[in-house]
Amino acid sequence: MTQLDGVTDLHSHLVPGVDDGARTVEESLEGISRMVEAGVGRIVTTPHFDASLCRDEKRLDTRLAELDEGFEILRAAVLEAHPELELGRGQEVLLDDPFPDLSDPRLRLAGTRFVLVEWPRLSIPPSTPDVVERIRGQGWIPIIAHPERYRDILKDIGVVAAWRRAGACLQMNHGSLVGRYGRGPQAVAMHLLEGG
Ligand SMILES: [Fe+2]
Repeated sequence: MTQLDGVTDLHSHLVPGVDDGARTVEESLEGISRMVEAGVGRIVTTPHFDASLCRDEKRLDTRLAELDEGFEILRAAVLEAHPELELGRGQEVLLDDPFPDLSDPRLRLAGTRFVLVEWPRLSIPPSTPDVVERIRGQGWIPIIAHPERYRDILKDIGVVAAWRRAGACLQMNHGSLVGRYGRGPQAVAMHLLEGG
């Protein structure tokens, strides 16, 4: 297995012009080139998506169409610049509605059962293990984005283990490990890794 085969990235904002990530396709390609140089061989990119949109069919369709269009632009550019790279599509689903309908495969990671989710405003609402359980009950596997970045995570670090017990996976940011968000998230990231 080559190094490229070994690394898959499941959280990035590379679809141009659809969120606070890459603004242009040139910026997307710049980020992707750096990832490829670092040994990433597969990317499932994850633009921001508000779960509450699922309650309004018209707004949902509009947002998904916007993401479809952006993803097609990215796909064509990647095919030309990095034909060896496997590119998939996902979302980072902000659970502003804790129980969205995730049946549209575009809401999940490359159409699999896995869905990248985050809690609103980088703070953890009550009963999150129940939310995880309910999403699992619908057949989907939530991956909680960057637990180390929540402001109040240290007050109740046990909640991370509760998410795991309820059936969630966890995703940690590279930036947290190298101190890009400061010492707090870096320390929590190390603590979580050390705890397995
Ligand atoms: Fe993100």
